[in-house]
Order: sequence, then structure tokens, then C-alpha cells
Amino acid sequence: MYEARERRDAMTKDIFPERYARELEDLLRASERAVAFTGAGVSEESGIPTFRGQEGLWDRYPPYLYANLGGLALLFLARPSRVAAFASNVIASLLDAVPNPCHEVLAGWEAAGRIRGVITQNVDDLHAVAGSRNVCELHGNAFRVRCLRCGSKEKLPRERLQEMSWQLRREKPSRTGLLRLLLDYASRCRDCGGRRRPDVVLFGEGLPAEEWDRAFRWASQADLFLVVGTSALVYPAAVLPRLARESGALVVEVNPEPTPVTALAGLHVPFPAGSFFSLFCARGDP
Ligand code: OAD
Repeated sequence: MYEARERRDAMTKDIFPERYARELEDLLRASERAVAFTGAGVSEESGIPTFRGQEGLWDRYPPYLYANLGGLALLFLARPSRVAAFASNVIASLLDAVPNPCHEVLAGWEAAGRIRGVITQNVDDLHAVAGSRNVCELHGNAFRVRCLRCGSKEKLPRERLQEMSWQLRREKPSRTGLLRLLLDYASRCRDCGGRRRPDVVLFGEGLPAEEWDRAFRWASQADLFLVVGTSALVYPAAVLPRLARESGALVVEVNPEPTPVTALAGLHVPFPAGSFFSLFCARGDP
């Protein structure tokens, strides 16, 4: 494992990434409807752990318990301290993270009209923080809450999340304390007074319809589909690279590891996204 990582790092320092960067620049210049599709790997170099693989989040927190409503309800009843520890760890890593060159370059490309926007599975808000405006958030956004009655959404100030994370750590709350913290954080809907919850999609839940429709349209209209940092294992999002390919797009993948997308890709860039995209910061717009 260590050897493999060393080899990867050595490759990253090699001149080859430049060649891939030049090829991607040429492809972008030639394209008219490019779209980026991102996953947890784009935020790995911002300090947010990915889900799968060694040291992935699901290694420590099995998704059948921590990423679906039934599992979370069971845990909440049986081991509220574990829910509190999970929430405070995840929130802390989201709050500490800042965009890396991949988020920044994608935002710059959108502003320059080189890509239409970003379809992301991430809930970390880093594309928006970097300046991307057309972000299609398939799995929601951890900084937003959604009303369970009328569906209206509101982005809450980061300080509210910070405060909750501190309280989770400080107070090690009981079941009732945990419930009170969560309810205080989400508060009532301004429009209808309904209860609200964090606007993130858990396993077994549907994707937000508008976001999905937009992602589907973008993927089927794209001529270049840039897939960055996703294992492409979670459906329905994982269908998008194939949809784009079958609709005529050239698929380009940036990921140090092969994935199911690799076989569809006209170009596979085998480098970590942050360090690869930093090459474009030095070069300016394609
Ligand atoms: P995964 O954790 O499944 O995959 C992360 C991918 O990023 C892997 O293919 C890694 O090889 C790659 N990777 C790691 N470091 C990288 C780097 N520095 N640069 C580029 N790539 C890197 O994450 P996702 O594919 O995003 O859903 O997972 C999809 C969904 O599964 C998530 O949105 C989440 C999860 O369960 C829900 O919670 C509903």
C-alpha cells in the first residue's frame, strides 16, 4: 500500500500530468457543452474523507446504520452517544474544509463559459464556496435544511452548525439532549411553521426531482463529460456517465484509481484531482 502511494506521488511529480493537462485543455477548447460530474474524491485534498476504500467514512460508520433513516433511528434509541460522535466528526470535517484547486478551476471554467456547470454528489458546499454558480446537488447540501411540510429550503449560517458541533462535543448529550440540539439547529420553517431536517439524501430516499431532471438533461446534452473523484457505484447518480457517453459525449475521468467509468472514458487521468487541477491554476484559462 505504502509503495503504491509512493509510486503515485512520484508519478504526480513527473512531467506526465502536464501532458494530460494539455490534452484536457484541447478537448475543452473543442467542446461546446462540457459538464463536470464530481464525487467525494474532489474534496479529499480539502480534508474531507471519502466514503469507500481504506480509511473511508463507511469503514468507521457502516452506512446501513449511519446513512439511512431506520439505522439512525435505531442508533438514536440504543446508542445516542454514537450518533452524537458521528455528527460532530462529520460536521467538524465539513466546517474545516476549504476549496482546493479542483473546485477553484471548475468554478473558473464555468465563469469563462468553458463548462455549463457541475453536477455533484457532494454535500460539502465546496463548489459553491469556490464560486461555481450552476451546481446541481444530487445528494443535497449539509449546510441547508428542508421543511418536511412545505418542502422549502434554507441555507443556515455556518456558525449555527459550528455551535451545534461544539455542543455535541462539550455536552455528550443524552437522547433528549441530542433531540433538543437537532430541533434547535433545524428550527421551524419560516413559511409554514413545519419541522425541518438537514437537506441531505440518505440511502433509500429519492433524489430531489428538480436537481435530477437538470442533471439528466445536462448529461444527455453534453459533448464532454468530465467525471472527477467518484467511485460511480451509487445509483441513480452513477448512471450519468453512461447516459452522457451513449448520448454522444466524450467521457474524461480524473481519478487515481480505475472505476466502472474508466471503460467508458476516452481519457483517464490517473492523478489526484487537487494536484492535477493545480496545473491549470498555473496555466490560466484554456
Ligand atoms: P466514494 O468514496 O465512493 O469514491 C471516492 C472516489 O474518489 C474513489 O473512486 C477514489 O479513488 C477517488 N479519489 C480518492 N481521492 C481522490 C483524489 N484526491 N482525487 C480524485 N479522486 C480521488 O465517493 P462517491 O463516489 O462520491 O451518498 O460516493 C457516492 C455516494 O456514496 C456519496 O454521495 C454518498 C455515498 O454513500 C450518499 O450518502 C447518499
